[in-house]
Amino acid sequence: MPDLTALTERYRRATGTEPDGLWFAPGRVNLIGEHTDYNDGFVLPFALDRKAVIAAGRRDDSALVMVSLELDDEVTMDLADLAPGSGGWAAYLAGVVWALRQAGHQVGGTTIVMSSDVPLGAGLSSSAAIECAAVAALTDLYSLDIPKMDRAKLARVAENAYVGAPTGLLDQAASTLCEADAGLFLDCRTLEAQQVPLPMAEQGFEILVLDTKTPHSHVDGEYGARRASCEEAAAVLGVPALRDVTDLDDALGQLADETHRKRVRHVVTENQRVLEAFELAKAGNLAALAPLLDASHVSMRDDYEITVPTVDLAVETARSAGALGARMTGGGFGGCIIALTRAGEADRIGQEVAAAFAAAGYGAPEWFSATPAPGAGRLDPTGA
Ligand code: GLA
Repeated sequence: MPDLTALTERYRRATGTEPDGLWFAPGRVNLIGEHTDYNDGFVLPFALDRKAVIAAGRRDDSALVMVSLELDDEVTMDLADLAPGSGGWAAYLAGVVWALRQAGHQVGGTTIVMSSDVPLGAGLSSSAAIECAAVAALTDLYSLDIPKMDRAKLARVAENAYVGAPTGLLDQAASTLCEADAGLFLDCRTLEAQQVPLPMAEQGFEILVLDTKTPHSHVDGEYGARRASCEEAAAVLGVPALRDVTDLDDALGQLADETHRKRVRHVVTENQRVLEAFELAKAGNLAALAPLLDASHVSMRDDYEITVPTVDLAVETARSAGALGARMTGGGFGGCIIALTRAGEADRIGQEVAAAFAAAGYGAPEWFSATPAPGAGRLDPTGA
């Protein structure tokens, strides 16, 4: 949890007044369903107990004052000057104000001080956490009546149209809609969302989240290139999105381009894995998720080609050290892996990965054991 006292003090320093409140939104891990969201497919994330927290209050003028506690930086913009691409680090906050105003919501001058303990660029949705915390704050501050799924969609508009990262809805939906001790099954076409209990501890399991510390970004080209390949392949196949491919062999037979064939194979099989994982989780059979995690990783490595050597070594080592299943999580090209382990084994497995990294000459990874946590909301000042 970020330091709430420091956050509130920084707000006082910026405005000379108390904040109107504190709001938070969490980072997430995706249990399964990678690069399926923008193909109108299925995802199954859960929220982390790592969050962005915002102290915010309304202003009498038309200024948007944004402060980052970690960066010790303050950016002030006039509401009239908000425009995609502006704001630097503050674009995640400015983008939300812009998206709300574009959608016709009355948002006036606001001071926002933020702090986050979601690791940056690790594939744990640090940016969605900031965006979704800002949406939570602004909807309360300006008494906006916006259903949760629409809040997630507005946060995504900030990410896509303002920050300029062509991502799907996975991160913002997870950060906004997740509930404690549950995964969120989301159909990214119909936006049907269902909570599914993930009683890891009760069933004697743990989820290890290990950050390889290989940074990644969604604003660079690889993410967009994967997305473009999927759209091209869908066009060749004559379907609105790869979600609509029902016969994989038939589809592969129609695609001449080997890259298209690989991308389609990943998306179609990954969607099937999410549906299977959802059924297994609903049936309370968490152990059976393990082979799906392994298969998802192989598919991301060989067909979607979004893993990197540190990530592959982390997954292989976790598996050989006793993890039941493991996969990269998030957009790829670095970031985190998750591993399903028996209770009490996550830390030892993390240490074995750290030893393998040291032996390979890689930097030290960081890890923690994750418990599914609640999505965005208001914090009471004690942080409860
Ligand atoms: C990033 C994006 C998501 C999703 C994942 C891959 O996290 O923000 O929309 O595409 O990558 O599953």
